[in-house]
Amino acid sequence: TQADIGLVGLGVMGANLALNIADNGYKVAVFNRTAEGTQAFMEKAGHLKDMFIPCYSTEELVANIKAPRPIILMVPAGAPVDQQISVLKDHLKDGDILIDAGNSDFHDSNRRYKELADTPFTFVGMGVSGGAEGARFGPSIMVGASETAYARIEPILKAISAKHNDEPCVALMGPEGAGHFVKTLHNGIEYADMQMIAEVHEVMTSTLGLSIQEQAEIFSKWNEGPLASYLIEITANVMGVVDEESGKPILDVILDTAGQKGTGRWSAVEAHMLGVPATGIDAAVAARCLSSARELRQEIADIYPQSDAILTWEEKQEGIAACERALIAGKISAYAEGFAVLAAGGKENGWDLPMGDIARIWRQGCIIRSRFLDEIAQAYDENPELKSLYLAPAIIERMKDAVPGLRDVLSLCVTNGVPTPALSAALASFDMIRQKRTAAYVIQGQRDFFGQHGFERTDKEGSGFHGPWPAGGA
Ligand code: 6PG
Repeated sequence: TQADIGLVGLGVMGANLALNIADNGYKVAVFNRTAEGTQAFMEKAGHLKDMFIPCYSTEELVANIKAPRPIILMVPAGAPVDQQISVLKDHLKDGDILIDAGNSDFHDSNRRYKELADTPFTFVGMGVSGGAEGARFGPSIMVGASETAYARIEPILKAISAKHNDEPCVALMGPEGAGHFVKTLHNGIEYADMQMIAEVHEVMTSTLGLSIQEQAEIFSKWNEGPLASYLIEITANVMGVVDEESGKPILDVILDTAGQKGTGRWSAVEAHMLGVPATGIDAAVAARCLSSARELRQEIADIYPQSDAILTWEEKQEGIAACERALIAGKISAYAEGFAVLAAGGKENGWDLPMGDIARIWRQGCIIRSRFLDEIAQAYDENPELKSLYLAPAIIERMKDAVPGLRDVLSLCVTNGVPTPALSAALASFDMIRQKRTAAYVIQGQRDFFGQHGFERTDKEGSGFHGPWPAGGA
């Protein structure tokens, strides 16, 4: 019998997704760029082997799927996606659906969606989160598709997605690149979340003088409270692991330079383009870049050494409690930024992004899954038009409780020279957004002085006012 669906690209993510689909009772025709990749996959398919049809050419792949054919592409983002599309294009027929499930730039998905609009088949750009484990046992899925195409692939996506209280973590985000746009912001928030966790670890190490083992316990405890999340959980796990070779905690031997494939940066760039800066996300991207300048850091560190803080036991205990609240406040700010960029991006692209659904499908399966997303989903349920997360009643309460903790931690860090770029940026932008009157009137005065750019006045209607600048100004 023919397969229900096709899958191209049997790397870690593709292979796991194929196994997940098969596990849910769908027969999959699989194809990989190299025949060895397909053979290796088939050898590891175990009891699911009969659920796969290994294919060694595009023709074979297409011929082995029941029409109309859904085909998932799980290949590296960028040129490989275009290459696969051009190879498959001429073989696809009316009603076929080509689904790009990689971490594609949503601008590319917008382009492909439009370029392929006149072909008999439909293009779908689909964001998939949850890493290898998620792909295998249930990811969170953000779909950019026409309603008709989505309706056709919905049953299979619901089956393979993660479930939160039996609710599948998959939803239609909108047409074109909407799914990849939401996935991009997911990753932006992921970057901020990860960086803030790393910063708090740094504070606990260099200022509070806590060992990694002690921190592992603290993170485990935090994972039972408001911070409960996948990233806090795995941080505790990673902290608890000992390197077999050196006998040291594994974190002591991992090199301190963070890699990045681009999605976090795309979030920051998009935020700037939309005029809705996401400073915590931005700082997290920048921090990864600074971490990569390892040699330069060694040189500069020798010239500007850091002093050690000496704290009493009570101060340390207070410091730990403040760290938890700092992370809560930082996390809320990162999500507030991320959701603000989502809302602005949705408007800019003419998509009606379902904000509540986004929070709902991120509650399980994806990397940023957390208890806190329940509160966000609820906030959007109560008010679908919510202008900012900072205005949601449950969030207001949390921020009021947590921000003083963030201030305490950051004061300590500033005094002792501990770098906390993402937490600091998050607080700075929160402090700015809660100003009735910002200092931007100084900028407007300067702009008018040197370039006659004009300003508005607080006491009159209209625009284009100028200051009585002395000669030399304007
Ligand atoms: C996910 C992850 C996943 C991947 C990132 C990592 O949601 O499952 O975000 O997509 O791990 O691409 O990105 P960096 O390599 O840029 O950290």
